[in-house]
Amino acid sequence: MRIAVPREIRADETRVALDPESCKKLIQLGVEVAVQAGAGGAAHYPDSAYESAGASLVADAAALWESADFMLKVNAPQARPDGSHEADLLKPGAMLLASLFPTRNLEAVTRLAERNITAFSTDCIPRTTRAQAMDTLSSQANIVGYKGALLGALELPKYYPMFMTAAGTTLPAKVFVIGAGVAGLQAIATAKRLGASVTATDVRPEVKEQIESVGGKYVGIDLKQGASAGGGYAGELSAEDKAQQAKLLADHCATVDVVITTALIGGVFAPKLIDETIIRSMKPGSVLVDLGADGGGNCTLSKLGGTTEVNGVKIIAPLNLPATVPTHASMLFSRNLLNFMTAFWDKEAKRFNLDWADDILKGCAVTHEGKVVHGPTLKALNQNEGGKV
Ligand code: NAI
Repeated sequence: MRIAVPREIRADETRVALDPESCKKLIQLGVEVAVQAGAGGAAHYPDSAYESAGASLVADAAALWESADFMLKVNAPQARPDGSHEADLLKPGAMLLASLFPTRNLEAVTRLAERNITAFSTDCIPRTTRAQAMDTLSSQANIVGYKGALLGALELPKYYPMFMTAAGTTLPAKVFVIGAGVAGLQAIATAKRLGASVTATDVRPEVKEQIESVGGKYVGIDLKQGASAGGGYAGELSAEDKAQQAKLLADHCATVDVVITTALIGGVFAPKLIDETIIRSMKPGSVLVDLGADGGGNCTLSKLGGTTEVNGVKIIAPLNLPATVPTHASMLFSRNLLNFMTAFWDKEAKRFNLDWADDILKGCAVTHEGKVVHGPTLKALNQNEGGKV
């Protein structure tokens, strides 16, 4: 079996799906690995390191795609500069493993199905203990939370920590984290390590203890209806709970220096939690870091991928933050993919075992035998029917 690793062509992407270390381990399984020349360059993994790991280098992207039995990628396939589409370069029957975010990338999914590709999406892997080591959402969200806390510190016209100096004492900055999943907990821990005083909220009541365990103080509301949608995901709040939460957010945001939002529904789409009224109630000089930007943004005023200022409040909405820490982001992403490949690798037959009875494999399969087989993606496609995909 020939596994291929292309250079990512998304404009802001610096990660690579397989680092040399995981490449070596994959080759030890008895597969052949081909890497596009320069694929790891932006993450500081040179071609020579892949050659030392036992991979072959392919200069031409199209040749690499066409020769792959199993493609490992970071992002969903996309249109190439020459107008062709990456998905259409795969040979029918080939397999693909990537973080497809299929409900956000319906065109790519449709093409993969039409091309008869068996595609797996790492962000759809069920959240079970066994799957943790394969979960790219977690490994990458950790980076998002870390970098988000740092961005807040850099933009704030104040210190995060308390300093007692001969010229006087500065009080610690107040940081408020909204959404305490993987990214939120890391944002709390990072801001705390930098000396800020941190509060945090979430709609899943079970996270109170987790917030406290990383040094945050929980602030929250008693929800009339639970918002846990199962599998660690949050669902939409009821209208009554939404109104109650909006009041809490408005009151609390007005008292802090930095707000970091990380809220997602179903791990994919960002609910709008911060509106112009809340922004205008915040102190001039304060900062909002919208880490929900990849999912559409948690703040109605966010300029996705950019920064804007309203009434002296800076609103930062960075996209694809893992790509700003490409060496470690790629290393962890690679280990997630390696763990997935190893779990389904039949050592004797030297082939990938399509074990449809396995909950992980079944749960993250997006296309197979010409069809879209992932429930939420099918639903999103049906909602788009008649519209532009
Ligand atoms: P996520 O990315 O889906 O959402 C981020 C956070 O936003 C969540 O904590 C969610 O409850 C919160 N949120 C949603 N709507 C909100 C609102 N209106 N207001 C405030 N907060 C809101 O979540 P993430 O980071 O992927 O993790 C969620 C949980 O799943 C965590 O407990 C994590 O440890 C667990 N997990 C387990 C895995 C496994 O066992 N394999 C893998 C990944 C996560």
